[in-house]
Amino acid sequence: MVLIGTFFIAVYTPIFYFLKRRYPKKLKYLLNVHVFGFLISFMFISIHFAGQIGRPQQFYPELGEGIALFIIMVLLVATGFVHRFQLITKKAGIYYKPHFNRYYHVSITTAFYIVIIVHVLINVEIL
Ligand code: HEM
Ligand code: HEM
Repeated sequence: MVLIGTFFIAVYTPIFYFLKRRYPKKLKYLLNVHVFGFLISFMFISIHFAGQIGRPQQFYPELGEGIALFIIMVLLVATGFVHRFQLITKKAGIYYKPHFNRYYHVSITTAFYIVIIVHVLINVEIL
């Protein structure tokens, strides 16, 4: 499940980035795939995370970049939600600067790519 979730996020992110500029009229569809697809992926990843954190003491993993990765995922989902529902926050009069939020959403994505590569390389015993 974690393989499907991570693979989908890693592949669809650049596709989304490219297609939303190439076909601006399809933005709604592309964004729905982004939002719902990534939320399901996040659910899959959370199952892997819970499985690792809940391992018995004798077989406990060495916690490391996996934790950082999970924090990155939570931040991505949080900034993603704020971005998606910016209209609601605006109407409610909540102080919000879309370009700041987008900056965080996109730059945390870079962190995701760097850390996931390290995590996968460690766990397939290349690093
Ligand atoms: C965003 C996605 C992911 C998150 C948040 C995540 C999180 C974690 C966490 C918290 C651990 C416990 C050890 C540590 O902290 O490093 C772990 C272990 C592990 N992860 Fe992931 N992981 C992700 C993706 C993947 C992927 C794509 C693979 C496939 C290669 C993978 C394979 C493993 C394996 C094999 C372990 C066990 C390590 C051991 O026994 O010491 N993970 N992961
Ligand atoms: C979990 C991993 C996620 C990653 C790696 C990610 C990454 C990205 C990237 C790279 C962009 C492109 C920005 C651009 O082209 O200008 C973007 C846009 C966006 N994302 Fe995410 N995102 C994630 C999750 C989410 C979630 C869970 C939501 C909503 C609940 C969300 C909502 C949005 C919105 C609303 C946009 C702006 C689209 C637009 O109006 O052009 N994202 N995301």
